[in-house]
Amino acid sequence: MNILAPSILAADCTIMGEQINSVKEGGAKYLHIDVMDGVFVPSISYGMCVVQSLRKIQDIVFDVHLMITEPIRYIEEFAKAGADIITVHLEACEDVKATLLKIKECGCKAGLSIKPGTAVAEVMPWLGLVDMILIMCVEPGFGGQKFMEASTGRVTEVRRMITEAGLNVDVEVDGGINIHNVDMIVEAGANVIVAGSAVFGGDVFANTKAFVEKLSAK
Ligand code: DX5
Ligand code: ZN
Repeated sequence: MNILAPSILAADCTIMGEQINSVKEGGAKYLHIDVMDGVFVPSISYGMCVVQSLRKIQDIVFDVHLMITEPIRYIEEFAKAGADIITVHLEACEDVKATLLKIKECGCKAGLSIKPGTAVAEVMPWLGLVDMILIMCVEPGFGGQKFMEASTGRVTEVRRMITEAGLNVDVEVDGGINIHNVDMIVEAGANVIVAGSAVFGGDVFANTKAFVEKLSAK
């Protein structure tokens, strides 16, 4: 099944609760929550207290994308705050195995992400320990950037590796995805689609619905 994960980085903070209701009503199954520390990426977003507040009013799956250095330090807190899936960056972890095991130990699904400059082959050793691989299609740190064309081939490559290994691992894509390029990336092998500005820029319900309809036709 193809899943839409709207990224609330592009949401309006003053009406975030209502906008999340709209994406849920529009058929989104995940909510993508970008956590940035100003060190691993240049920008700063929000932390566990935002996750905790949203959890009180939302039962949608929380897909938490940690763009932070040494994420192992905060996994327990994000899990307690209400994360369902926790994705860490390969480039940010001193001990990838311990980090992924910690996510599982906390009862969450584990995701592993790579930046556009990291070779796809680097995720190979960890495929057996993860539920999801996140291929960044822009340099992480900001919403509203242009999709990097090379990402399509990277998705094909990672999907091939997963199939050849006989594993059941989701492939998520994040950055610059819109209603026009989503088909191509799904055909390449992605099945969890993050979209920030393409969902929250304009009519949130209508944008979500259009994405979900496209994805379910695949
Ligand atoms: C970027 C974040 C993305 C971002 C996507 O570092 O990880 O999730 O919110 O935003 P768009 O869809 O606008 O590129
Ligand atoms: Zn993200």
